[in-house]
Amino acid sequence: MITDYPDLNCICIDAASWSYQIEVRHRRYILHRYFGPKMQRPAEIPFSRYLGKNYGSIHPDSEFPEFSYEAELLEYSSPGKGDYRIPAFLGSRNDGSPVFWFTYVSHRIVSGACEIPGLPSVYALPEDRAQTLELLCRDDSSGLEVTLCYTVLPEYDILLRWCRYTNNGSNPVFLHRAASICLDIDRSSYDLLTLQGAYARERIPARIPACRGITSFSSLRGISSHHQNPFLGVLAPETTEHSGMAMGLLLVYSGNHCFEIEVDAYGGMRIVGGMHDQSFSWKLIPGESLHTPQVIMTRCDDGMHGMSRRFHEIIRTRLCRGPWRDRPRPVLANSWEASYFRFTRDDIVSLAGEAADLGIELFVLDDGWFSGRNDDTSGLGDWKTDTDKLPGGLRSLSEAIHAKGLLMGIWVEPEMVSPGSRLLTEHPDWVLGSREQQRTTGRNQLILDLTREDVQDFLIGTIDRILSDADADYIKWDANRCFGEFSSAALHPDRQGEIAPRYILGLYRVISEVVSRHPDVLFEGCAGGGGRYDPGMLAWMPQYWTSDNTDALSRISIQYGTSIVYPPVTMGAHVSAVPNHQLGRSTSLSFRGHVAQSGNLGYELDLRKLSDAQKNEVRSQVAWYKQWRDVIQFGEFFRIASFTEGEEAAWMAASRDKKRALLFCFRRLAEVSQAPGLLRLPGLCPSTRYIERTTGITAWGEELISRGFPVSWKTGDCISCVYEFTACTEE
Ligand code: DGJ
Repeated sequence: MITDYPDLNCICIDAASWSYQIEVRHRRYILHRYFGPKMQRPAEIPFSRYLGKNYGSIHPDSEFPEFSYEAELLEYSSPGKGDYRIPAFLGSRNDGSPVFWFTYVSHRIVSGACEIPGLPSVYALPEDRAQTLELLCRDDSSGLEVTLCYTVLPEYDILLRWCRYTNNGSNPVFLHRAASICLDIDRSSYDLLTLQGAYARERIPARIPACRGITSFSSLRGISSHHQNPFLGVLAPETTEHSGMAMGLLLVYSGNHCFEIEVDAYGGMRIVGGMHDQSFSWKLIPGESLHTPQVIMTRCDDGMHGMSRRFHEIIRTRLCRGPWRDRPRPVLANSWEASYFRFTRDDIVSLAGEAADLGIELFVLDDGWFSGRNDDTSGLGDWKTDTDKLPGGLRSLSEAIHAKGLLMGIWVEPEMVSPGSRLLTEHPDWVLGSREQQRTTGRNQLILDLTREDVQDFLIGTIDRILSDADADYIKWDANRCFGEFSSAALHPDRQGEIAPRYILGLYRVISEVVSRHPDVLFEGCAGGGGRYDPGMLAWMPQYWTSDNTDALSRISIQYGTSIVYPPVTMGAHVSAVPNHQLGRSTSLSFRGHVAQSGNLGYELDLRKLSDAQKNEVRSQVAWYKQWRDVIQFGEFFRIASFTEGEEAAWMAASRDKKRALLFCFRRLAEVSQAPGLLRLPGLCPSTRYIERTTGITAWGEELISRGFPVSWKTGDCISCVYEFTACTEE
């Protein structure tokens, strides 16, 4: 709910558990008044960090000579008038001057959430009672306006923030930084939580204390990246999984991004987040607007779980969209680690036959199905079926797969092109980079210039054709390199700074068009594993290939970290062969099964090579998963222990009504003289009595929650067990 208190110069945004308050001082300055536990009324005690007369501050306004930007908590900021903290905006006017002075013009409150033109965002349904506040500010001398937008979804405890820049002047202006959010906090004794990593080691949580100066977390790889997810958490130092203040900011964007955190001289903290400004500038001509990506924000006092729960809910139900949002996700078999680029039609059909026999529901033909694709040096761009490998083409293969009762899925990497392709010969300027300077390849491929509408249209047509040729029910959309040159033959020299954001806008146009033309097709995103596992992609593709690292032990840490923000229903998780192809490690089929059963279960190995006993084990894994997948995919997820604290990791999934729950436990290395412990199970209902199927133990929820459940381990390394709790009595 958003309420205007003009007498107190205050606008209050209230969600179920927090309040956010904005002050409009002197009808000129937009200040931050409060973000914290819910208050019923606006804060009224005047507060400023005014330092008295001192030589360190300047005062821009002769009418209010004591006002200094530095002394205030601000909702947005640009330099030049005395705010020396990291700016949210940088620009230059037609005359080259970098000085802009944005002051308050007006505001309005509208019902609902707003679509952001060209960008994915959270949506709201009427029952969400969402409201949006728009605060309009203007720099009078240039006519540049910025509207600060805030949408609240009260029951979700979610605040959405973004900005709209409009040039209402008569000359072009250049934007060099246009952050989505600026958040000032009056103190700084917090920890910063981020999800960092590298290729095949994505989204590992890192928690550090905020410290004086500027800390930044970013990606300049053109993709949101394996290395730094576009998420920032702010935690009280004492915050644990289930207690303490936790705030999260998540950028709905798939390209270069940055969160900067400054702890200033007076103990305050500023967070600025949005598109990275290193690869960004934008020429805004009179009459035009530019929108920044959206930030999804939440805060709570019930620890990291509280933050994750709120993110999981909003992502699962109000960011992901389309019919697949609520459909059970099929168990799949993927051909990549089974056969890589080398296969025949008979191989694929027999693999699919095995999959069907084991109860698997979807068969995905990965890379290697098109002409010239016998390794990763060639073939991308032309998208002609390799009829030597697949005589009869995709349609006939798809018929054979469908005839086995399976859905048919296919891999594409539409944004890329191989240097020797016909496409590139015919359209040498359709790739990023310039012909004069050597273009840099990554995985032997170049990147199509998606800033161009003709390239976007070509891709939309290409994917349409592949989908109809293959009569496919599923697409795995891959992108296997980071960007190099952000330059384009299609754009004027003074617009070359727009390439990184324009690429992402072009990508979103292609994906949204394709997805809306094929609503029943399930799209799974991928970028060399989880290199673009972000809310921007999830808005169109409700599941993502979590990592190219399919080793079950590594996957525990990767899935654990991913769950800080993203719900399990978005995580593709496959059982692969041993020794594992990335790490050479061997783990049991049961261990691999339990890890993969924690997300969207799949198999990525040559099923034909399994022994009969192993096939039976897979058959029962799949059957078990089907019985429990509503709990795993659509229930609530709880982290219980991670390997950073010891040799054991554990998590839980509980149905929404708490009548069914699963406890997954994993042990890395066996140790001697380890006393068994009790694991506290937060996902249950205290007043319900449960029976655990594998042990026959019965107990009230309150005991399992507060005292715990005894986990018993077999000997050996990489051991796992799963416990199944079902409600038997309710008080
Ligand atoms: C990278 C993906 O992450 C893999 O799963 C596989 O699809 C390969 N690309 C294919 O080239």
